[in-house]
Amino acid sequence: MEKSYKRHLITAALPYANGSVHIGHLAGVYVPADIYVRYLRLKGEEVLFVCGSDEHGVPITFKAKDLGCSPQEIVDKYHSIIKDSFNRFGISFSIYSRTSSKIHHQTAAEFFKKLYQDGKFIEQESEQYYDPSAKVFLADRYIMGTCPKCGNEKAYGDQCEKCGSTLSPDELIDPHSRLSGEKPVKKMTKHWYLPLDKYEGWLKEWIIDGHKEWKTNVYGQCKSWIDGGLRPRAVTRDLDWGVPVPLEEAQGKVLYVWFDAPIGYISNTKELLPNDWEKWWKSPDTRMIHFIGKDNIVFHCIVFPSMLKAYGDGFILPENVPANEFLNLEGDKISTSRNWAIWLEEYLEQFPGQQDVMRYVLCANAPETKDNDFTWKDFQARNNSELVAIYGNFVNRALVLTNKYFGGKVPGYAPEQLTEDDKKLIAAIPEITKNLQDCLDHFKFRDAVKEAMNLARLGNKYLTDTEPWKVFKTDPQRVAVILNLCLQICANLSIAFEPFCPFSSKKLQAMLNLSPKKDDICPVSAPEGKIRWDMLGRTDFLKEGDQIGTAELLFSKIEDETIQVQTDRLARIKKENQEKEKAEQAKQVQPQKPECTFEEFEKMDIRTATVLEAEAVPKTDKLLKLTIDTGIDKRVIVSGIAEYYKPEDMLGRQICILANLKPRKIRGIESQGMILMAKDSSGKMRFITPEEVMVNGAAIG
Ligand code: 2FM
Ligand code: ZN
Repeated sequence: MEKSYKRHLITAALPYANGSVHIGHLAGVYVPADIYVRYLRLKGEEVLFVCGSDEHGVPITFKAKDLGCSPQEIVDKYHSIIKDSFNRFGISFSIYSRTSSKIHHQTAAEFFKKLYQDGKFIEQESEQYYDPSAKVFLADRYIMGTCPKCGNEKAYGDQCEKCGSTLSPDELIDPHSRLSGEKPVKKMTKHWYLPLDKYEGWLKEWIIDGHKEWKTNVYGQCKSWIDGGLRPRAVTRDLDWGVPVPLEEAQGKVLYVWFDAPIGYISNTKELLPNDWEKWWKSPDTRMIHFIGKDNIVFHCIVFPSMLKAYGDGFILPENVPANEFLNLEGDKISTSRNWAIWLEEYLEQFPGQQDVMRYVLCANAPETKDNDFTWKDFQARNNSELVAIYGNFVNRALVLTNKYFGGKVPGYAPEQLTEDDKKLIAAIPEITKNLQDCLDHFKFRDAVKEAMNLARLGNKYLTDTEPWKVFKTDPQRVAVILNLCLQICANLSIAFEPFCPFSSKKLQAMLNLSPKKDDICPVSAPEGKIRWDMLGRTDFLKEGDQIGTAELLFSKIEDETIQVQTDRLARIKKENQEKEKAEQAKQVQPQKPECTFEEFEKMDIRTATVLEAEAVPKTDKLLKLTIDTGIDKRVIVSGIAEYYKPEDMLGRQICILANLKPRKIRGIESQGMILMAKDSSGKMRFITPEEVMVNGAAIG
């Protein structure tokens, strides 16, 4: 039997306040969390939905340094942008606060202090990289050097972004500080570690044995971490931005961002409910659910629970952590640094009033079990052929016809007037809504929104099949039955869609005159009136004679031109990125080859020559066949330069060749020598020519 709870504490990962939020954030974390919260509220459950900005960590200090401002200015700017974007998308947090707040600093420091006093940490001195001129210890990200795996000169001390290798600063070739450019030195420093190894047995029991129902991606990641053996993790850093470590001996040190951030869930609860917060965190009657992206799994399933366990004092643990995978954009990983994203504030500006469309698309295509792709074509198709053509069209027809035939008054009927088809329809509604509820209960939001759309499909088909516009003249009472049932479906739709598309639900409820007296997005209480989850499946919402309003469109068609603007923008960004990457690559110089002797060099007979004829080698993209005058003879050389030179570009040009290279057959043509080319790391090639035209056959050396 499943345990029943009195209240639900729902958390959504605290986004870093060093940039705006994009659709990947919405799809992975905030839309699913908000759907779930809205669903629980509609059911009349007591819910607290907590989030806020994560305002610490090294990247924020970098951004500040790059822009020549303080980290506080950075987080102030992005905190307000992020908060506003979420608000406008209808993400209905009970509180959205921030980790630079006083209450958070106090809470996090107190949390550390208690663990320290209870002897839960290990203290350890170790050698860390230090920048002697900037006089600071360097986090791995602060160190840059050449990647030992791919030669990228801009690899970081923790990772090479070019080849994706995980690195340690010790592996970097020619490491230097990103702050001063100087070579870092090693220096002893002391840190506090949470010995996760001591929690291994307990974590095994709690997750591996006790939470087999967690999503496979989450359970699998936890299992492989635990099976791989856990090690102590440092919870402090040498940095000047963050929550200061509350110990005399820890001057200049702060709590590691991943230690303080999850405590943010607690601080934000405290901020909202200073006298009542403990019942949300320390009562076995509270059910806590963390909504996060897959990169946060280890912190929410292993590290934070171990911190709570170490703290004791009745802190509850998450009951589930339904983490999502990642959303890609048009086939590529979303990337802030490459501007490969759809930013929420830009979307809101370019698609005003269309928040529900994005919410719907991101849910219908959510990366629940695997990474998924967002494309503008799919966005348009889901809007035009689902939201507009099914849901919107059905609602519109039902309301327009009721206004036309019955002056906007809900028509009534007697039970014996129901046909077999009507009865089937009435029976199908609760079936769909039951499926919808099952999906929501199991965090299957993609399937859930499909069920909601199925309800609209059912209504649409019923209306098309029964054709009331043809029947009205001869049998108006039949039309009364049809439209009554259609309006009942509309009322059901306004509830079924509320978690997913809250703005249009509200509009629909207003059109049906169903609006609740009190706003239904209040933090911890259930909505009033008919707009409750338990009304779903019923066909007696609207009573005979109830007055409905006029029909307004819930959704509007998105034209090809609108989509084209977006795909053009992405194409432009892609091109710019490719050019930047090429330019970066071109700057990289290959390491020198092993030494050779003068005698070895002398064996090469390098001469000037002139191109007499040039043609592309058929069925190849890269090869040109050149007939050249070497001064010694006329001969043919096949060269892989067609990507860079057209045959006519080569005609008459003086070049340099290696004349005594052993001839070889290329695509059936004997190539007698090699053209000397300068080639950069991006592959770009240019031929070498003497500074002044020389006789053909002049020796080079
Ligand atoms: O990955 C991130 O964006 C982190 N800022 C999430 C933190 S979640 C919580 F622990 F605060
Ligand atoms: Zn690399």
